[in-house]
Amino acid sequence: MSERPTEKPEFGPTRRGFLRASVAGGALVATGGAAFAQTPDPLITEVQPWARVFGDGIDATPYGMPIRFETDVIRRNVPWLTADVTSSINFTPIHALDGTITPAGCGFERHHSGAIELAKEDYRLMINGLVETPLVFTYADLERFPRESRVHFLECAANSGMEWAGAQLNGSQFTHGMVHNMEYTGIPLRLLLEEAGVKPEGKWILVEGADASSNGRSIPMEKALDDCLVAFKANGEALRKEHGYPVRLVVPGWEGNMWVKWLRRIEVGDMPWETREETSKYTDTMADGSARKWTWIMDAKSVVTSPSPQMPIKSGPGPVVITGLAWSGRGTITRVDVSMDGGKTWHEARLQPHSHDKALHRFYFDHVWDGSEMLLQSRATDSTGYVQPTKNALRAIRGLNSVYHNNGIQTWWVKSDGEAENVEVS
Ligand code: MTE
Ligand code: CO
Repeated sequence: MSERPTEKPEFGPTRRGFLRASVAGGALVATGGAAFAQTPDPLITEVQPWARVFGDGIDATPYGMPIRFETDVIRRNVPWLTADVTSSINFTPIHALDGTITPAGCGFERHHSGAIELAKEDYRLMINGLVETPLVFTYADLERFPRESRVHFLECAANSGMEWAGAQLNGSQFTHGMVHNMEYTGIPLRLLLEEAGVKPEGKWILVEGADASSNGRSIPMEKALDDCLVAFKANGEALRKEHGYPVRLVVPGWEGNMWVKWLRRIEVGDMPWETREETSKYTDTMADGSARKWTWIMDAKSVVTSPSPQMPIKSGPGPVVITGLAWSGRGTITRVDVSMDGGKTWHEARLQPHSHDKALHRFYFDHVWDGSEMLLQSRATDSTGYVQPTKNALRAIRGLNSVYHNNGIQTWWVKSDGEAENVEVS
């Protein structure tokens, strides 16, 4: 019997050293220099426990949840903001997400009187007021109307509102996380209004929810007939309870408060209703005491989501992917610039293609970091040519009394140890 040399892996210093050198050399080009261990790595050389057994059967996850290693990618709240459970706000973990679609399970929530449970069988939508035929639709009625699917961001007008007076909350989740971006499926509101027949004097609609707060808002007829959707699906599945199951209004590009959840009534009228939600709330008091009102559209805004206070640079100097989100209620984002010196010099970031109108856009800036401190900022330009302002430029016009519509440029101070902090540059 002839002796054949066995094909055992060999870890002699010479051969292994050569392999490592060539792998590392290749990797250096692609990643800019990953570290390779000099000793054999059992994760490469040994058969691992998970490769020796059967994994879970398909019955284990009839509706899948994220793997347990990702359980910190969750909505979080700021304790001092949420005094009680019926007046709640939490924040999307934008620092830990990538791409543009927000998974429904971590899309922020804002409700004024809690999230209600409303079954499809109990659902009714009424259209009344200045219409030829007042109508009531069941959920099944709505399913028979032609529908569309569109991706849109929803941003609460109060997003970044806590930052008016200065840098406060340490993390993009808290400063900018009252935003989410989903693919909505619904009926153009125009079709339902046409079904009822809007009288010529009908210039406004009042939209109300079925929850105790009702969250009534007036919307000009022009917008109602333009691109609003009466939506029942988000990201392909039924709306989550907290996002308005079974039906919510989608008002693309306009402040989140108008996106009425658990939508129950649409009244057509000839003037706005001046509800609580559009007078004492969602109106800004200017420095001279006058009120800035009917500020529906969310202006262009952006934020670096990583690195950021919750996403420090752990790998030390070398390549770092700077990434973030940008959006505009007036259209698309045409350009995002990134600054590493607090706005003195700017570099154009890579915007991901195939972005949608009035939807989140993703940008990347691939940077080789030398380990020195950065004052990291992003600045969005939208399809109208509008450029995101600095916070100080906003304050010069709007004063410090505001809560809503803070779309100023955010600064993260990235220190040489990679940790980041919310700061402002003057
Ligand atoms: N609709 C009803 N019926 N009740 C509410 O409390 N909150 C509004 C709006 N629609 C609200 C509502 C506010 S202020 C915002 S920002 C969005 O819903 C939040 O939507 P989300 O919880 O799906 O993120
Ligand atoms: Co809101």
